[in-house]
Amino acid sequence: MKKIAVFVSGSGTNLQAIIDNIRNGRLKAEIALVVSDQKKAFALKRASKAGIKTLVLEPGSFANRREFEAELVRHLKKEKAEIIVLAGFMRILTPFFIRKYRNKVINIHPALLPAFPGGCAIDDAFRYGVKTTGVTVHFVDEEVDHGPIICQEAVEIREGETLKELEERIHKVEHRIYSQAIAGVLSGRFSVKGRIVKKG
Ligand code: GRF
Repeated sequence: MKKIAVFVSGSGTNLQAIIDNIRNGRLKAEIALVVSDQKKAFALKRASKAGIKTLVLEPGSFANRREFEAELVRHLKKEKAEIIVLAGFMRILTPFFIRKYRNKVINIHPALLPAFPGGCAIDDAFRYGVKTTGVTVHFVDEEVDHGPIICQEAVEIREGETLKELEERIHKVEHRIYSQAIAGVLSGRFSVKGRIVKKG
């Protein structure tokens, strides 16, 4: 079974969806490790409940970002994680890390990139008044919310709906498409040329 590591910082609903999809057979993978930079992240509880190994690495306890990431790499190698899935991980990985895992780190973003990058994407899209937003899964490169796009799904903003309702619908899409994208990456059926990701 191919091994993945999931990086989290918060609630971990995407982690939970991945756990559930592995359990119900939709995603053939094993989560070798869940890493959090926040010791209070609820995602850690979800992982422990599912019997998954967890690791808390707080950047503040390292001399610098390089030392923090070098420790991450040591653990990932030990666990033989083939890909790294960022699921609400609120920390920017530096080129030192990204170069070691080129096209092996993936992220999910709750908007149609390149529109609305950053930490408040759903809110930003809602307030901007766009009629369509959505979800993007992409490889992580040296720039924030920027790497080659694996898949996207549009979500229309309904007239009169609240931000909370929109958030719920976006998260539902995230929870479905992230596992599909992970399966695709693990199967090796994506090729990446520059910014373009192709199937096959
Ligand atoms: C998700 O909306 C994801 O797109 C973004 O951070 C959020 C994480 O939520 N990168 P959760 O911790 O998986 O519930």
